[in-house]
Amino acid sequence: MGKIKRRGEPAIGDILHAEKPLSEDERDITLRPQNIAEFLGQSKIKENLAVFIAAAKARRESLDHLFLIGPPGLGKTTLAQVVAHELGVDFKVTSAPALDKPKDLVGILTTMSKNSVFFIDEIHRLKPAIEEMLYIAMEDYELDWIIGQGPGARTMRLPIPRFTLVGATTKAGNVSSPLVSRFGITCRFSFYEQEDMEAILRRSSVILNVRIESDAARLLAASSRGTPRVANRLIRRMRDFAQVKQAPSITRAIVENGLTQLEIDSLGLERYDREILRMIIERYNGGPVGAETLAISVGETVETLEDYYEPYLIQAGLIQRTPRGRIVTEAAYAHLNIAHKHTTGALF
Ligand SMILES: Nc1ncnc2c1ncn2[C@@H]1O[C@H](COP(=O)(O)OP(=O)(O)OP(=O)(O)O)[C@@H](O)[C@H]1O
Ligand SMILES: [Mg+2]
Repeated sequence: MGKIKRRGEPAIGDILHAEKPLSEDERDITLRPQNIAEFLGQSKIKENLAVFIAAAKARRESLDHLFLIGPPGLGKTTLAQVVAHELGVDFKVTSAPALDKPKDLVGILTTMSKNSVFFIDEIHRLKPAIEEMLYIAMEDYELDWIIGQGPGARTMRLPIPRFTLVGATTKAGNVSSPLVSRFGITCRFSFYEQEDMEAILRRSSVILNVRIESDAARLLAASSRGTPRVANRLIRRMRDFAQVKQAPSITRAIVENGLTQLEIDSLGLERYDREILRMIIERYNGGPVGAETLAISVGETVETLEDYYEPYLIQAGLIQRTPRGRIVTEAAYAHLNIAHKHTTGALF
């Protein structure tokens, strides 16, 4: 369909789909941190959560509902599991598209044990009827259950155990304000710092039983777009390169060659990131260009463009969002080694 396919990365459709096939990082469950000590980086989020978790445990209450916001692969699902583990409670997981009928939600909420963590991924995609049921469930720990049909129908209130809803989204702007206001705790994920990425790679290398030299880890960390999922994917590929070369460890040279092979550059940009930048520069004269137009031009959905590509390009200072659309920065011209021609009417 002419869509951009990222190597090794599940398509956004797969990420969003309820019964998505397991991606590599999900299959390799061992890499996923189980407790808060293994969950590296995001120190502000962790510090606060540790307090709220300890307090909830001391009171033997459920933790307040938790809203997790951030780009794909930064650890939202992981953190939800860690929270359940730290609370010592059951963990139930679903995604908004999987909650098709009210009975799907009723089925889960009525069978949960007390104080469980209930994780809903892609919570911006809830159907209105489900969302309204959730409002009452979150606030009063009850469900509105409609019995019968037509004029004889009546509503019954069904008590449910106390629980913690953890809602995750890559698109906070698309979550309705009544739902947002029912979350007591909000965590915004940011891209990981270089040293956290290195620590994540060191941890993964131990689990994957492969040695990585420190200058190699430094380069790999810098090329992983501040995203643990990308780092874990890349270290597996580097392990492959090392293995076929029969190298005892992942060296800087192996990483340099491997990244070239995978068309990942010094900023961690993949081919399609560069294509997006080039498209804005060459076809739209550096922008501004609207997200829809840009998405069509590069053959990608607006959702993938906005969720996956843009957050990192913005973070890396290569594009900016303006009210009139996306523009590339001087840094993008420099990174792609393209001379910046000023058009007529410009300053020069
Ligand atoms: N803080 C962390 N420390 C170590 N590893 C991490 C951390 N966060 C995430 N990871 C690793 O990155 C992988 C991706 O994280 P996760 O699936 O939780 O991301 P996500 O934010 O839920 O992404 P999506 O929006 O696509 O659902 C995990 O399998 C885990 O191995
Ligand atoms: Mg997730």
